[in-house]
Amino acid sequence: GKDGYRHYMEKELHEHPLVIGQTLQRMIDPATRRVVLPEMPFDLATIPRAVITACGSAFYAGVVGRYWLEEIARLPVDIDVASEMRYRNPPLTPGSLGILISQSGETADTLAALRGFKNAGLPILSILNAEHSSMARDSDAVLGTVAGPEISVASTKAFTAQLTVLACLTIAIARMRGELDADGEEELVSALLDLPSRAADVFTHGDAIRQMASVVAEARDVLYLGRGSAYPVAMEGALKLKEISYIHAEAYAAGEMKHGPISLIDRTVPIVATVPSGVLFDKTLSNLQEAKARGGRLLAFTDEVGRDRLSAIAEQTIALPKVHPFVTPIIQTIGVQMLAYETALLKGTDVDQPRNLAKSVTVE
Ligand code: M6R
Repeated sequence: GKDGYRHYMEKELHEHPLVIGQTLQRMIDPATRRVVLPEMPFDLATIPRAVITACGSAFYAGVVGRYWLEEIARLPVDIDVASEMRYRNPPLTPGSLGILISQSGETADTLAALRGFKNAGLPILSILNAEHSSMARDSDAVLGTVAGPEISVASTKAFTAQLTVLACLTIAIARMRGELDADGEEELVSALLDLPSRAADVFTHGDAIRQMASVVAEARDVLYLGRGSAYPVAMEGALKLKEISYIHAEAYAAGEMKHGPISLIDRTVPIVATVPSGVLFDKTLSNLQEAKARGGRLLAFTDEVGRDRLSAIAEQTIALPKVHPFVTPIIQTIGVQMLAYETALLKGTDVDQPRNLAKSVTVE
């Protein structure tokens, strides 16, 4: 049941801390505080590249994974949505690792892309919530997200569990490739182990998120902006808003704004910015200043370090818990998913069963 929550989505949002913790328990040895992967029938230390594919939210998790694998493990990564990947017939570097991401393990396009990779001779690693699924059966190795059943059509906890697995996979591959020493691993593992309690702290911002939702609920169109690993979080926020509130939302890489979408900006198109403190903070801030100068209403998700500089320009600033820059996308995700949920409540839509959508898309 819903355990007293109004919707499965609300219940599942509140399971973020638990699910992140359970997933970490499966991947980190508490004694050594190191990531331990299960036996795999291929050698992650020698893969020349990874090619990631998935659909919807799972694809956005993959995009965060690409930023991590490239930056931390220095592994070249290709990524595309599965409905494109399956027909692109890309030249695949022999020995590349095919990484599939899916909550259900049954999504038709992702399964077809998996089989395409397999036919091309790639080793297949799937990140799945349903560990007994079609994708599980066709994979060489599976990393499970320990999210439990996800009932709400809009994915929430499965997404942060996917990010948690991708973060651990990144650490393991980085170590094997000689890109991460023991101190480096200790730092990133600590950041991950800190997450369940920091994730729980996000719920203390409920009132501020509801206030932000009252602005978003009045809009016909909403622009989401972010840079780096906060860009796929913006994409996830925009998808979730479209899905359950039926408000049109688009996510752009903040630096792309001046190449087109800036012409949309006026008082009627609020901008939701995902902008954690860190190396890209100033860059994103200057994009937001440009948007503001054109009359944009800025609604920002940052952290305690970014709060003062953002609140100088934004109509509303939410300072989410400050965490290690590595794991900011996981904390920011909870914020944008809660914003979508609160907006849908104001719109009075059918949150758990949005029109036209199915939980598992098993036909092309
Ligand atoms: O079961 P999967 O993870 O393969 O599903 C992929 C997408 O259909 C799914 O993430 C969809 O985009 C969600 N409704 C997003 O909230």
